Amino acid sequence: MTEKPERRFVVEPGGALSGTLQVPGDKSISHRAVMLGAIAEGETAVSGFLDGDDAMATLAAMRALGVAIDGPEQGRLRIQGVGLRGLQAAAGALDLGNSGTSMRLLAGLLAGQRFASRLVGDRSLMKRPMRRVTEPLARMGANIHTEPSGTAPLVIEPVAALEGIDYPLPVASAQVKSALLLAGLYASGETRVTEPAVTRDHTERMLEAFGADVRVAGSQVSVRGGGSLQGGAVVVPGDISSAAFFLVGASIAGTGPLTLTNVGLNPTRTGVIDILQRMGARIHVERERSGAGEPVATLTVEPSRLQGIAIPPDRVPLAIDEFPALFIAAACAEGETTLTGAEELRVKESDRIAVMADGLGALGIQAEPTPDGIRIVGGPVRGGHIQARGDHRIAMAFAMAGLVADAPITIDGCSEVDTSFPGFVDRAREAGLRIRSEEGGA
Ligand code: S3P
Repeated sequence: MTEKPERRFVVEPGGALSGTLQVPGDKSISHRAVMLGAIAEGETAVSGFLDGDDAMATLAAMRALGVAIDGPEQGRLRIQGVGLRGLQAAAGALDLGNSGTSMRLLAGLLAGQRFASRLVGDRSLMKRPMRRVTEPLARMGANIHTEPSGTAPLVIEPVAALEGIDYPLPVASAQVKSALLLAGLYASGETRVTEPAVTRDHTERMLEAFGADVRVAGSQVSVRGGGSLQGGAVVVPGDISSAAFFLVGASIAGTGPLTLTNVGLNPTRTGVIDILQRMGARIHVERERSGAGEPVATLTVEPSRLQGIAIPPDRVPLAIDEFPALFIAAACAEGETTLTGAEELRVKESDRIAVMADGLGALGIQAEPTPDGIRIVGGPVRGGHIQARGDHRIAMAFAMAGLVADAPITIDGCSEVDTSFPGFVDRAREAGLRIRSEEGGA
C-alpha cells in the first residue's frame, strides 16, 4: 500500500462555530451496507453513503470479489447482490488501507468461502491486532493465517464448511461481534456471540432488515446460517463520530449556537452526548425519524462552561471513537477529568492515549496517561505543534482546540482525515473555524 502525501492543518486563534452543518454519512453503517448488499439477493439501493477512504476500501474489495456496484454518486450506490454463495476470488490482495472495520468484518465474511483471499492494509492497519477475529473464526473451522505477531497480512484459505459456535467476547468489540455474525451466515447451526458490554449494533439491525435469522436476547446476539438475505433500501444517517468534533467545538468556542442535522442517534453510539452533558454541555436533541432501522436527530449546541468529571467506565464502549474529541473538552473544562477502562484506545488507528497525552502536553495542558485511560486537568490552551501520527480523529480533535488557543496550532500527520470525514476542512471553515490545510509536515 502506498502511503498518502503528508498533510498538515494550521488553525489560527479567534475562530467561531455557528450556523447549520450536515456531517457526512456514518462510516460503520456504510461498510455494512456494501457488504450485506453484496451478498444479498437482488438490488440494494444505498443513500447517504460515506465516500471516505475507509468505506471506499470496502467498496473496492467487494468489486474485486465480483460484485457490480454503481456509484457513489452524491452518496447513492446501487449494488447488484450476488447472493451468499456468489462472491468470486479476487485477482490479487484486497488492500483495505487504514480501515480496521473493513479488514475485521471481511475476515468474517470471507472465512467461509470456497476460495482464498489475502487482506492487507497501510502501515497503521498492518500493526493492529487481528487474532481477536482469527481465533474465534478458527474455532468455527476457518483456516486463516496471520503474521506471528497476530497482525495482517491475513491469508484466508478456502474451507468446505464452518460450524456455529457459542462465543463470549473477551473484548467489547463490535468489529469482532460483526465478523462472527457474518461468518455465521455461512456456518451450520447457530452462531452465538455474548458481549461483555454493549457495543454498536448496526450489523444486527441491518441483518434483520435484510431478512436474516438473527436474534438479540440481552447481551447475546445469534444468527442462524444457511438462509438468504434480501436486498433493499438502506438510508445511511450522518455519523455521530464526525459530529462529535463539532459538539465539542461548539461547546468550548463561546459562539454559536451550532445546529447539526441528520445525525444518527443509535443508542449504542450516543456516549459522547451523555458524557458531554454530564460535563455541563448544552446539547439539545430533537429526535426525527428512524432511517431504515437507525434513529436520526437534529442536535443544537450552545456554548457552555464545562466541568471535569470521572467518566463512568460503562459509557466507554458507547463513545469509543469519540475520546480524542472528549479529551479536548476535558482540556477546556474546569478541574480534572479521569478516564479508566479504556485500554482499547491503545490499539486504534494510533495509540490514542499516548498520542493525545503528548499533544495536550504540547498545548500546555496537564495530561497523565495510565495503562487504561488518562487524567486531564483543564486549563488555558496555548498554541503549539502537534503530531496527529496519521490518526484522523486526533487531527480533527486538535483542530477544535484551535478555537480556544491563544496562538496558532499546527497539526502534522493529517493525511488520513479523508478516511472518515472528506471535506472536513471546508465544512469547519464554513462554520467559522480558522483552519487551513497544507501539504507537508512530518
Ligand atoms: C467499529 C467498531 C469499533 C470502532 C470502529 C468502528 C465498527 O471498533 O472503534 O471505529 O464499525 O464496528 P472495535 O470493534 O475495535 O471496538
